[in-house]
Amino acid sequence: MRKKIIAANWKMNTTLEEAKNLLESLKNVVVPEGAEVILNVPFIHLYPLKSMVDSMSGFSLGAQHCSEYESGAYTGEISVNMLKEYVKYVIVGHSERRDLFDEDNEEVKAKVDVILKAGLTPIFCCGESRMLRETEEHLGFIQHQLAESLFHLTSDDIQKVIIAYEPIWAIGTGLTATKDEAQEMHAFIRTEIEHHYTLEIANSISILYGGSCNGSNSVELFAQADIDGGLVGGASLKGAEFGRMVMGVES
Ligand code: PGA
Repeated sequence: MRKKIIAANWKMNTTLEEAKNLLESLKNVVVPEGAEVILNVPFIHLYPLKSMVDSMSGFSLGAQHCSEYESGAYTGEISVNMLKEYVKYVIVGHSERRDLFDEDNEEVKAKVDVILKAGLTPIFCCGESRMLRETEEHLGFIQHQLAESLFHLTSDDIQKVIIAYEPIWAIGTGLTATKDEAQEMHAFIRTEIEHHYTLEIANSISILYGGSCNGSNSVELFAQADIDGGLVGGASLKGAEFGRMVMGVES
């Protein structure tokens, strides 16, 4: 049985005080049995939030980014070895990192490797632009992203990865993929995993949907056969709404 996962991506939002208030508003959220909530908060809030998150059943901390290097002269970067004291999860390949910071499939692959080597779980993001969807090249594009950054992994390691499908045109735009568009892509991703590994492995991997996922569409999206939860940006900054999304997820 795959785990249902609701991951929050706070991005570059919240002062420490706002972060603490947001966490406080989630304190009474009951995470359904067998589900997990991952709060991917800004690096600088990991230490101050850790003890409170540790006391919240079903909640874990994650990072939004890491260096592909393990240590060295990389001013401003954060390594997985620094992160592993605080988090179990690291987002990798987010479209904002790809587009704004020029991360390509090769760099994403190196990060996936370094995250796994540190014993952490990558939340691997993939997703196509509006243009690629309009020209019906979206399936091929995702196939390529998976092949170049993930499918070198061993059967053991691929099972440690969480995948998030986030169509770029839906991120932060208020446009959401329809449940059928999202389900089609999630099923496609699962079939790709099956082709490279086995059906059993494909069925064991959680695939999350992201892109304007909110309190109004999450129940419908998460009910699809191949959608195992969500990666939530904007709506995760609203405690009450995010809490409802978590409590509404069926495990
Ligand atoms: P959004 O962001 O929910 O604000 O669209 C999702 C993401 O970028 O992970």
